[in-house]
Formats: sequence, structure tokens, C-alpha cells
Amino acid sequence: MVTQNSAHGEGLLSHTVDTLTMGQQPVEASEPERTPNRPERDVFAKAYRYTRAEEATALGLHPYFRAIAAQDGGVVTVDGREMIITGSNDYLGLTQDPRLKRAARAALDDFGTSCTGSRFLTGTLTLHEELELRLAAFMRKPAALTFSAGFLGSLSVVAAIAGRHDILYYDRENHASLVDGARLSFATLRKFEHGDMDDLERHLARDASRGGGRLIVTDGVFSMSGHIAKLPEIVALARRYGARVMVDDAHASGVLGPTGRGTAEHFGLEAEVDLILGTFSKSFASVGGFIAGEAKVVNWIKHMARPFIFTAALPAMQMAAVLEALEIMDAEPWHRERLWDNVGLLHGGLAALGFDTLGTESPIVPILIGPDDLAMAFWRSAWDAGVFTTPALPPSVPAGRAIVRTSVNANHTREQLERLLEVFAVAGRGLGVIA
Ligand SMILES: Cc1ncc(COP(=O)(O)O)c(C=O)c1O
Repeated sequence: MVTQNSAHGEGLLSHTVDTLTMGQQPVEASEPERTPNRPERDVFAKAYRYTRAEEATALGLHPYFRAIAAQDGGVVTVDGREMIITGSNDYLGLTQDPRLKRAARAALDDFGTSCTGSRFLTGTLTLHEELELRLAAFMRKPAALTFSAGFLGSLSVVAAIAGRHDILYYDRENHASLVDGARLSFATLRKFEHGDMDDLERHLARDASRGGGRLIVTDGVFSMSGHIAKLPEIVALARRYGARVMVDDAHASGVLGPTGRGTAEHFGLEAEVDLILGTFSKSFASVGGFIAGEAKVVNWIKHMARPFIFTAALPAMQMAAVLEALEIMDAEPWHRERLWDNVGLLHGGLAALGFDTLGTESPIVPILIGPDDLAMAFWRSAWDAGVFTTPALPPSVPAGRAIVRTSVNANHTREQLERLLEVFAVAGRGLGVIA
């Protein structure tokens, strides 16, 4: 996954390739289908001019969209070669679990391949209702609502809850889906510096005399840095300034908390967090998303959110896999325990080698490399040695602070992690990233 602002893939890649193609001959741009008479009036003109991805591919320096032919635990097959994968979000290692596959197959047989309709009209299955009840119980909230993607969940909730006169307070590192939700909402957006509670309070205090509602929105685990939100401070500020709190727990559900309920459970603050957003595309080993909160509020989202209403409902297979994953999360805590053992191994191993992992507190482990070209060289060295990982370059990270983003899963073996560390050690020493 390329996260957050790397949704702006063009910018990210162009920067990479600008850096790496100095002095190289650019390859020919692909021929436009039809040459318009006046290119400056053609909305396709920018696409015709865009050759950087092709240039990067020709140089073997395009790290994104690499196709996986097969997957087995921490190992994937790419171009006929087995590679150790680091950076996926299969935190509990359930995507290949035979029980999830069986459940998905059975739902496919019962309900078919698609709902072909919106939840609002003809797309609600009994399975949606069953899953929403189960999720509400799991999250210890009165109600839950599912979405066809976590991204649509962010758009739906933020846009439905924050109106034109309301104010949204956002951590600068929040996921792109939340930022796009703010754009849809017409609310005033106040971005506070990442994890900076003084900055958040400054914004809240400055707005104290303004009308309208307030919603503080934060990732639970930040998808780039792996930091955990400072929820106790956020909740205290929300109380002081009369704000509601929403946590995007995409990377925390199944991962954080004594029973895997996420960031609020981790801090013992489940009752204080008003809305918890989740995605099924990570620990739940499926696809889709959900919101959990008060019944009246969830019902409002259900009847108002355009990205929920005007899209086809989540298919049965995906939901059946999630229902099975929920059972496993509760019955088999050892997946989460193994995940955290692996987190300890990777954090400890990288620290011992002298890498800077930017204070990560979670299975997401950024390795700070610095200059963009060095990050690309690091990625390439790891790739050639059989490790599948991805760099993140500006603008998805600050200039001069390029990283290689890694993450661990429950199904990485000790041998795989040791091999990973060996490969990173060779790349890091060879490039002067570590001594
Ligand atoms: C923090 C965060 N929120 C939301 C999403 C969107 O989730 P989905 O993949 O289900 O669209 C992601 C996905 O990467 C994420 O990292």
C-alpha cells in the first residue's frame, strides 16, 4: 500500500524520477489516440505529456504497482521469484486462512457475486444487518454501519457529520480519505501539527467564541509514521472545548488494545471516543469499512451520506470473511500476540543496526533514509535481494525525509524477519545510511 498523501501518486513518482533520471534519455511518450487541433484545450493533454512513469519503468526504478502472482504468509511470488513481503496490512495474517476462504465461498453460493444495488434501495442483505450487529458488539458501541470501502466510510462519515458551520480539527498526518471527506463536508478545516496537542489546543481556543459544532478527527495508528494518537490528551481537550472525537482505526483494529478493539481500548477510553471508523482491508482480511457509534448518529449517516447511498452495497463474500475474522480475533488471541512478538523483533533488530525508525509504536515501521535517490537505491537493493517493500517520497513525506515503509504481520516467521534485517543491513551499510 502506498498511503496517505501518496494518493497523489503522480507527484510522488515524478519526484522520484526527476531525481533519478538526470542525464538519462527520456523514453518516447505513448502516442495519443487522436491528436487534437488545439492541445491546450484538450483535457487529456496532461496525460499525453506524462512520461515519467514510463521512464521510471524503463530504468527499472518504478517501485509501485508490482504484480503479485501468489501469496503465502510472509512470502509472495513476483515475476516467478519468491520474495519476503514487508509493508502489507495483513496484520493478523488471516487473508489465506482456510476458514475465511470457506466462509466467503459459502456466502458466494448463498448470495451470488454482487448486490448490484445500493444499501438504500435493493442492496441490503440479511448479512449486512448481521455483520453490523456483530461489529457494534465487537466495538462495544450501540450501532455500526458498513461501507463498500474504508475510504468511502471516511468520506461518508465526515461529510455527513460536519456541516457548513462546523469545524473539523485534523492531525496533519491524517489519512487522505479523511482529508477528502473534509473537502466534501464544506466545514472549516483546522489542521494541527502531527501529534502536537499544544497546537490543537491553540486552534480550539482561538475558535472558542465561534458558533457551530466541533469534531476532532485523528488516525488511531498513523499509516506512515506508525505513531499512536495521543488519545488521552485529545479526549481531555475535546471535553474542555465541547468537541466530539472520531478515530480512524484502520491500522489499529485487531492490533491495539488488550482484546484488539483498537486505540480507544488501548487507552481505556472506549466510552470517550464518539465515533470509531474501521476498514476491513487490513486485520479483517477482507475489503470494506465500518463506523461504530451512537445509534442516532449512525442512523443519520445511513440516511444522509452520499458515498454510502449512491454506491453498490458490500458483497456477501467480503462480509462473510469479516464475520469469520471477528470470531478468530476473539477466540484466538495468539495471532495478535504473534504480531506483537514480530513487532518487537523488527523494532529491536532495526534499532540494533542503527536505523532511525522515527519513533514508531506499532507494526508500521518507517525506515528513515533521507534523500530521495538514496531511498530509491535502498529500495532497489532490497528488491534485488528478494525483499518486497516500497519507498515513500515527498510530497507524501517532508522533503529530504524519504523513507522505506515496512510493516510486520503475524505470519512472518523469525527466519523471514532475520533475512529482512540482513538485507536491510547490507543495503544500509552499502549506501551509508547506517555505520
Ligand atoms: C488510516 C486509513 N484510513 C482509511 C483507509 C481506507 O481504507 P480502505 O482500504 O478500506 O479503503 C486506509 C487505507 O489505506 C487507511 O490507511
